[in-house]
Amino acid sequence: MQTILVPTQPYGDQRPGTAGLRKKTAVYQQPHYLANFVQSIFENIGDVHGKTLVLGGDGRYFNREAIGIIVRMAAANGFGRVMIGQHGILSTPAASHTIRKHQALGGIVLTASHNPGGPAADFGLKYDTSNGGLASEKMTEAFYRRSQTITSYPILEAPEPEIDRLGVRDLGGMQVEVFDPVADYALLMQKLFDFDRIRDLFRSGNFRMRFDAMHAVTGPYALQILEQQLGAPAGTVVHRDPLPDFGGLHPDPNLTNAHHLAEFMHGPEAADFGAASDGDGDRNLVLGRNFYVGPSDSLAVLTANASLAPGYARGLVGVARSMPTGQGVDRVAKKLGIPCYETPTGWKFFGNLLDAGKITFCGEESFGTGSDHVREKDGLWAVLLWLNILAVRRMSVEQIVRAHWREFGRNVYARYDYEKIDSAIAEGIITKLRGSLASLPGRQVGGYRIAQADEFAYTDPVDGSVSAGQGIRVGFEDGSRLAFRLSGTGTTGATLRVYLEKYEPDAARHADDPQESLAAIQAIADELAEITVRTGRKGPDVIV
Ligand code: G1P
Ligand code: ZN
Repeated sequence: MQTILVPTQPYGDQRPGTAGLRKKTAVYQQPHYLANFVQSIFENIGDVHGKTLVLGGDGRYFNREAIGIIVRMAAANGFGRVMIGQHGILSTPAASHTIRKHQALGGIVLTASHNPGGPAADFGLKYDTSNGGLASEKMTEAFYRRSQTITSYPILEAPEPEIDRLGVRDLGGMQVEVFDPVADYALLMQKLFDFDRIRDLFRSGNFRMRFDAMHAVTGPYALQILEQQLGAPAGTVVHRDPLPDFGGLHPDPNLTNAHHLAEFMHGPEAADFGAASDGDGDRNLVLGRNFYVGPSDSLAVLTANASLAPGYARGLVGVARSMPTGQGVDRVAKKLGIPCYETPTGWKFFGNLLDAGKITFCGEESFGTGSDHVREKDGLWAVLLWLNILAVRRMSVEQIVRAHWREFGRNVYARYDYEKIDSAIAEGIITKLRGSLASLPGRQVGGYRIAQADEFAYTDPVDGSVSAGQGIRVGFEDGSRLAFRLSGTGTTGATLRVYLEKYEPDAARHADDPQESLAAIQAIADELAEITVRTGRKGPDVIV
């Protein structure tokens, strides 16, 4: 076996977005495309000699081929060990935990998260550093810069490494360790949650659950933890085998893409608790019987009930939410007397707060919730925390959420996505909003008075770094709020996200239809951003 140097040329489009480099699969399959980017990473993460790299993915199309290339490049670059999840499977949160537990230099996770997979769909790659969190913007910029000048990369000439059999094997002087991707993660969950209580709940006979793995990465995790360890009946986990095209499903756990779960949970056979996760296992959708729990509500409820789980019994040091996330959790934090931080969109901004011990929980409106147990969001973790709470309180999901609203008021919330808009038009909308910011405060629109308007900029309280241009915010006098930003994870055109929020303290109105409650604010959003005029769209493509 020998190392060869393969000549290559830069690709102009390798600047990572919100969570790694996501592209159409065909883009990744171009000659040297993946290798160029991987080499650009390896040259910008310090001395790799003798170090450990964690590697795996969500099982989507091109996962195995990519692993084959990366392992041989790691050997050629001088890594001491590559730890690969068996069959190439490793969820985003489990990767984070593995990196931390084994003191790896970092990890590569092959995923385009909640984007569909397959030859005509999406592929992606993200790099996590030694704390188990996503590489910083500074690092990803360095990856990008290197990718623009690359002329060659080294790779070991060797056959495809074995990734289906557990064990440690040698590859040109480097150790390749194929490990069980579930075992360590399951142990961590056992430490955080009251497995005995949850087992009792399943045993009680009057509690049924459905977990929909969407043929993505969480199947093996949910099967092991829910059915084998917690005693949920066989069949609780559905769509459980990871498949290269996710069995045609779109593993984005929201009411649109997980509509089969939503329909089941609203039908005659509904379970008491329904949940789903996304491609790489970091997102979660939570449903009660005939009842949807929005992610912002979920974060608030989990925060308020955290102490019911053994791992958080001593309380939380603080919480954080991304800017567009509903502000329900702020009210809980206030009551608990703990700080609540507002960060830009993207999990990486939580990393510093978690590392510095300033927060225990964090979450986003985009179905992401997590804690300081890893440095990524964690879908199954959120589901298990819900289960722990249900097992202790023995109330229904709906009863728990409604009781929460009675106590704190309801932050009625929705996100409207306008997908695949022409990029210039999308940029135009943001530019127009930016230009009007100064004239908005004090203005009366659609029965609401604008109190403040700005473009969100964030100064990291730990390292002082500043991230500007993180979305437009418009706040109204009654506490209602609008936010606008462009997606950083899409792969075709631009996606405009409009975030709508209205605070409703009156319990008599908590049962109102959220879309109706938000209709006036939505009309204001359209007026201020000229969405209909500029895009010709009559409404959003997706409402979450
Ligand atoms: C989206 C979500 C964001 C999340 C990210 C990665 O990013 O909005 O909250 O952190 O995916 O899962 P966006 O496409 O909005 O940039
Ligand atoms: Zn994801």
